[in-house]
Amino acid sequence: MTAHQRLGINIDHVATVRNARGGDAPSPLRAALMAQAAGADGITAHLREDRRHIRDSDIADLVANIDIPLNLEMAATDEMRDIALKARPHAACIVPEKREERTTEGGLDAEGGFKTLQPLVEALYDADIRVSLFIEPDIRQIDAARALGAPVIELHTGAYCEAALAGDEPARQGHLARIREAARHAAHIGLEVHAGHGLTYDTVTDIAAIPEIRELNIGHFLIGEAIFLGLGPAIAEMRRLMDAARTGIGA
Ligand code: PXP
Repeated sequence: MTAHQRLGINIDHVATVRNARGGDAPSPLRAALMAQAAGADGITAHLREDRRHIRDSDIADLVANIDIPLNLEMAATDEMRDIALKARPHAACIVPEKREERTTEGGLDAEGGFKTLQPLVEALYDADIRVSLFIEPDIRQIDAARALGAPVIELHTGAYCEAALAGDEPARQGHLARIREAARHAAHIGLEVHAGHGLTYDTVTDIAAIPEIRELNIGHFLIGEAIFLGLGPAIAEMRRLMDAARTGIGA
């Protein structure tokens, strides 16, 4: 187990604020460069089918200008496959996408969508793009991800964070136990494990402390905190909490 857990910063909601007025500011690229300077290990951006936040030109700008890995979140569509194959990000995280949702609700059905996902995972893999599948902490989904040949899974922490936010301690503990078990199982069958969605300063510690989780991807909360603290200090505080949670791991 390695102590260092990577922190990927999701900059989608810088684009949300920009798009509220239709101009060029605030710039997602500028946020990515600030995150990089603040010690982020990667940048994550979700190019949604409806382009509600990140635009195609943002992806091109990020690929051309950042020095840390770019993780492109994408739906399993032919359009997104072609964009990924052209942009060649370091990684692609395949997520479920529904037009009407406010954010990515729930994980991908890797088991039910096996036939559609297989050629996509293969095409990305052949292009040297590290594929991850955004799934619920569910053993069958993890086994399906493994069977699909994805080297990485990202466990959806949304339900865990919602239970924490609601102060429902039994539910929070239940979700946490499922995430721990899922991470253990996935690492055991050779998958690299990431996690994310909805994480905050209050919810990150127990997730960061799971030894098998190698990377967290965090966006909305940090972009919100950046309004009050600045992006660099907001990221530094998350980094501090993650490091504190992993004291003793890999020692
Ligand atoms: N990981 C994945 C796969 C996501 O889809 C998202 C949301 O776009 C995140 C992480 C980050 O979630 P949040 O913005 O709630 O921190």
